[in-house]
Amino acid sequence: MALSKSHAVSIALLAFFVCAVVSSDPDPLQDFCIGDLNVVPGINGFPCRNSSTVTVDDFIYSGIVNSSNTTNINRSGAIFGTVVRFPGLNTLGLSIARLDFLPEGIIPPHTHPRASEMVYVEEGTVYAAIVTADNRLFARVMNRGEVMVIPRGLIHWQMNVGRTNAKIIATLNSQLPGIQFIARSMFGSRPEVPDEVLEKTFFLDERSINQVRSNFV
Ligand SMILES: *[C@@H]1O[C@H](CO)[C@@H](O)[C@H](O)[C@H]1NC(C)=O
Ligand SMILES: *[C@@H]1O[C@H](CO)[C@@H](O)[C@H](O)[C@H]1NC(C)=O
Ligand SMILES: *[C@@H]1O[C@H](CO)[C@@H](O)[C@H](O)[C@H]1NC(C)=O
Ligand SMILES: *[C@@H]1O[C@H](CO)[C@@H](O)[C@H](O)[C@H]1NC(C)=O
Repeated sequence: MALSKSHAVSIALLAFFVCAVVSSDPDPLQDFCIGDLNVVPGINGFPCRNSSTVTVDDFIYSGIVNSSNTTNINRSGAIFGTVVRFPGLNTLGLSIARLDFLPEGIIPPHTHPRASEMVYVEEGTVYAAIVTADNRLFARVMNRGEVMVIPRGLIHWQMNVGRTNAKIIATLNSQLPGIQFIARSMFGSRPEVPDEVLEKTFFLDERSINQVRSNFV
C-alpha cells in the first residue's frame, strides 16, 4: 500500500519532532571532537582540535577529585565538568558535576534549561525535590546509593538533612546545561528587576524586597 504524499510528509515531520524532543544536544558527526577552547565557540559548540594532537588526558577530567568549597551562605559547593573545563565533552551531549554539602547545606531551587539530570547520592542523606510545570512537588529524603532523575528544565533542589557532610555526583545530557537559580534570577539580576514587578509577583512590600535582594549582592 503506497503512502499518500501528505502522509509521508506528516511522518517525516513527526520523526523530526520526536528526535528534537528526545535528544538534547545534537548528535556528533565524528568519533570525538575535543573542543578547541582557544577559538570562540560557534553557533553550536567549539570547533574540533586537530585530532593528531589529542591524548588520553583529553578524555579524563580531574576537576572533581577534591571537594568543592562549602564555606559560603548556602553551606554547599559545586564543581562543574562542562565543555568549558572538560573540552573532551564537546559534541557528546554530556556533562558532570560534584556537589558537596555541610550539614544543613542546600543547593537552592534552580533549573537547567538545556538538560535532564541524574543525581547520585554518594555520601550522606539529602532531601531532594522536583516541582513540575503543573506545580506538583515530588520530594523525599534520599540515602547513599540512590539516584534521582530530574527532567529537563524543571525546578529542583537538594538539601543535606543528615548529621554528616553529603556528596552528590550529577550527570547531565548537555555539554553546557546552564544553571538558573530561581531566587537569584528574580532578586539578584543586573540590572535589577523593577520593584513594581516583584511587588506584583511575590506580594512583597519594598522593605521585604530589599531584604531579599541584599542576599544577592
Ligand atoms: C594536524 O596536525 C598534523 C601534525 O602536526 C599536521 O600534519 C596537519 O597538517 C594538521 N592538520 C590540520 C588540518 O591542521
Ligand atoms: C586535590 O587537593 C590536593 C591537596 O590540596 C592537591 O594537592 C591536588 O592537586 C588536588 N587535586 C586536583 C585534581 O585538583
Ligand atoms: C573557600 O571560600 C571562602 C569564601 O570565599 C574563602 O575564604 C576560602 O579561602 C576558600 N577556601 C579554599 C580552601 O579555597
Ligand atoms: C548560593 O545560592 C544562590 C542561589 O540562591 C546562588 O546564586 C549562589 O551562587 C550560591 N552560592 C554559592 C557560593 O554557591
